[in-house]
Amino acid sequence: MNAPRERRAGAGRFALYRCPTCAQALAFSGSGDEGGGLLACAAGHAFPVAEGLPRFVADEGYAGSFGLQWNEYSRTQVDSATGSSITSDRLFRGTGWPTRMEGETILEAGCGSGRFTEVLLATGARVVSFDYSRAADVTWRSFCDAGAEVCQASIYEMPYARGSFDRVFCYGVIQHCPDVALAFRSLVEMVRPGGHLAVDVYDRRRLAFTARYRVRWLTRRMDRARLLRWCRAVVPAYMRLFPPLHPWHQLLFPLKDYRGVYAGLTAAQEVELSVLDTFDALSPAFDQPQYVRTMQRWCREAGLVDVEVKRGGNGIEVRARRSEG
Ligand SMILES: C[S@@+](CC[C@H](N)C(=O)[O-])C[C@H]1O[C@@H](n2cnc3c(N)ncnc32)[C@H](O)[C@@H]1O
Repeated sequence: MNAPRERRAGAGRFALYRCPTCAQALAFSGSGDEGGGLLACAAGHAFPVAEGLPRFVADEGYAGSFGLQWNEYSRTQVDSATGSSITSDRLFRGTGWPTRMEGETILEAGCGSGRFTEVLLATGARVVSFDYSRAADVTWRSFCDAGAEVCQASIYEMPYARGSFDRVFCYGVIQHCPDVALAFRSLVEMVRPGGHLAVDVYDRRRLAFTARYRVRWLTRRMDRARLLRWCRAVVPAYMRLFPPLHPWHQLLFPLKDYRGVYAGLTAAQEVELSVLDTFDALSPAFDQPQYVRTMQRWCREAGLVDVEVKRGGNGIEVRARRSEG
């Protein structure tokens, strides 16, 4: 763990960032160790470093529900906290990536609470993560000591050199972006020639008729704290009173129910996960599932090679490489 600690010490830890507006290098002024300061490029674009994190966005924008969600449920899906391998299994099965990736640099887009950050760090790779919301703070707090390099930024204006990452990983994110196709193209741009891309997205064929899409017009407009209180009251009550929801019940009820879904979770963990995931389904400003054929087309249009687009995990999983040329 010494190397990551050295890497993040002082102003040097900001060396990887580029101005998201003009792509120039950024100079740091302030106290890197104290967690505050400013990153500025020669053209005069400036970005604060606050509470340890470079902030390339002024606020959480449309992603505020996630800021609340991941600060409230910072450990619920993290393998080391749950004692499970749910996240690790999903990542390696979905991406097909090796479990050791020393010497590689991985960009993780939309890290949330850092459940995948933890798994990527354990491969020995350098892990560079960002999130639009204050979830970035959660990942930073949980995994900075393990070497995670985290900032608050948007997928549409990433503060890194184009084509500079061996691998780009983005699970659970692009359906929550206003322009899903642009989000996908932005990720492709970050992969170095010959590098790997792994993205997943909700499956429109599977979700189209589920109840959440009939109530989201209301729930995504509700006061977030109120919606969360509602989820915390209704989901556990349902789980106390009724038998486990069969997956097809999601056509009728906008509730998530994880009883018996994952081996090894305690009853309390199942309830917590169900509350979190119900809020996660009802609160986001954007939720735009895609078709397999759409993802295949986007891969073709981006000139990706070794493309695999499959149903699995949370919907549709895409694995591909950027051509060497
Ligand atoms: C459902 S969470 C998934 C988090 C994490 N990848 C996981 O699977 O646990 C979606 C995340 O995408 C982030 N997000 C949404 N739009 C984004 C954008 N334009 N740029 C970066 N992150 C974004 C949200 O803030 C949120 O943390």
